[in-house]
Amino acid sequence: MNAPISEFVRAYEKNGGLRMHMPGHKGMYGALSALDITEIAGADELYADEGIISESQQNAAALFGSRLTLYSTEGSSLCIRAMVYLALLEARRRGRAPVLLAARNCHKAFLSALAHTGMDAQWLWSEKDDGIVSCSVTPGALRRALKARKTKPAGVYVTSPDYLGRLQDIAGLSRVCREADVPLLVDNAHGAYLRFLKEDLHPLSLGADLCCDSAHKTLPALTGAAYLHISKAAPEGFTQNARRAMALFASSSPSYLTLISLDECNVLLEEEFPSQLYALCTHLAALKQRLRARGYALTGAEPLKLSIHAKPYGYSGGGLHALLRARGIEAEFSDPDFLTFMPSPIQGEEALSRLEEALMSVSKAPAIDTCPPPAPRPERVLSVREALLNPAQEVSAKEALGRVFVWGHVSCPPCVPILAPGERVDEEALRCFQYYGVSHIQVL
Ligand SMILES: Cc1ncc(COP(=O)(O)O)c(C=O)c1O
Repeated sequence: MNAPISEFVRAYEKNGGLRMHMPGHKGMYGALSALDITEIAGADELYADEGIISESQQNAAALFGSRLTLYSTEGSSLCIRAMVYLALLEARRRGRAPVLLAARNCHKAFLSALAHTGMDAQWLWSEKDDGIVSCSVTPGALRRALKARKTKPAGVYVTSPDYLGRLQDIAGLSRVCREADVPLLVDNAHGAYLRFLKEDLHPLSLGADLCCDSAHKTLPALTGAAYLHISKAAPEGFTQNARRAMALFASSSPSYLTLISLDECNVLLEEEFPSQLYALCTHLAALKQRLRARGYALTGAEPLKLSIHAKPYGYSGGGLHALLRARGIEAEFSDPDFLTFMPSPIQGEEALSRLEEALMSVSKAPAIDTCPPPAPRPERVLSVREALLNPAQEVSAKEALGRVFVWGHVSCPPCVPILAPGERVDEEALRCFQYYGVSHIQVL
C-alpha cells in the first residue's frame, strides 16, 4: 500500500521552497514541524478531496472494509458530531423522529452533537447497575425500546468498547436495528484495532452503519487522528452527505502531521501491525490469567485493554495508580474503583513485563467493600440542546438539589457525564457528584 500524503509532504519539504503560506512556525520546531504544512497546491483539501487525501482515504476504506472512510484530525469528537448530523438528515428525508435511542454512557462529544444539531436523545439504560462508565444494552432491551415507541427514531447510538474494556453485542444490536430498519451508530473511539484481530470484531464488520474510531487511541497515529467509517450497507445518504457533515463541524486547518500519520498508518496496518497486535494480545491474555491467579479482579473482554477493579484487591483505582506511578508507570485512566491500561502492539512484550512486575509487587490488602452509588436515572426537564443554549449559574453541587443541570466538570477520561444537560439534580446525582469529586456544577 502506498502513502501518498506522506510522499507529497516529504518531497515538498525536501525541495526547500519558500513557505509563504500557513502555518506560521515555518518548520522552526525541527524535523517533524517541517512536515506540518497546509492545504497548498498538490496537497489536496480535506473533505473536498480529489488527490492525495482521497487516495489515502481509499486505502483506509479498503483496510477497514467500508464504503467510505474519511479522516479526522480532530479526533472521534468531530466524527461523532458528523454521525449525529448524518442521522438527522436521513431522518428528515424519511420523515422520522429527530431522536436517537442512545446508551447512556456517551462521551461528552455526543452531548455537544445533540446541542449543535437539535437531535434529541432517548436514553437506553443498562438492565444491571454498570456504574457511570458502562451501559450494556442487550438486543432484547433494544427491541423492547424500539417497539415501545410510537414513531421510528433516527437511529440507535452506542459506545463500544468503553473505558473499562466492555464491548456491546454489536452483532446482536445491529440485527435488531436491521429488523426495525433504523441505522446503528457506534462510538468505536477505543476500537480501531478490533478490525485487525484474528477474529474481526470491528463494529463495521458486525453490522454498524456508521462508526468512528480514534486511530490515535489504539493505532500508531498522532493525537487527533480518527476515522469516520460508513458501511457498505448504510443508507446512500450517509455517503452522499459525509464530506459536508465533517466539513461543517471541522476546523478549516487540518493538521498535516496527523494526516501523514493516518496515511503511513495504512502501510503499517497492511504490513506488520496485525502480527504485532496478535503477539501482544496473546501475551496480554496470559498476563490477565496470571493477574487473576494473583487475586486481581479484571473487567471487560477487550483484548487490548487491561482494566482492574481495584477494590477487591484492597485499593482504590487512584490508590493503585499512585503506587504504579511511583514506579514510572502511567495508566490511561483511574477512578475510585477502576484502573485502566492501554498498551500498544508497538511496545512489545517488554512493556507488559514491566507492568506485570509492578502489579505483582503490590501486596494484596483486605478488600474494600464500598460500592459506587448507583448511576442516577433523573427526571428530564429540558432537551440537551435547550439546556445548553441557556445561560447557567455555577453553584456548589450540594446546593443544586432540585435545580436543572446544565454542565459540570466532566473529567477526561472518561468524559462520561453523570447527568445530561436538562435533567433535574436528584439525591442519587448528588451522591455521584460527591463520590466522583465533582464539587461545583452549572444549573438553571
Ligand atoms: C468513548 C469515547 N468516545 C469518544 C471520545 C473522543 O475521542 P477523541 O479524543 O478522539 O476526540 C473518547 C475520548 O476519550 C472516548 O473515550
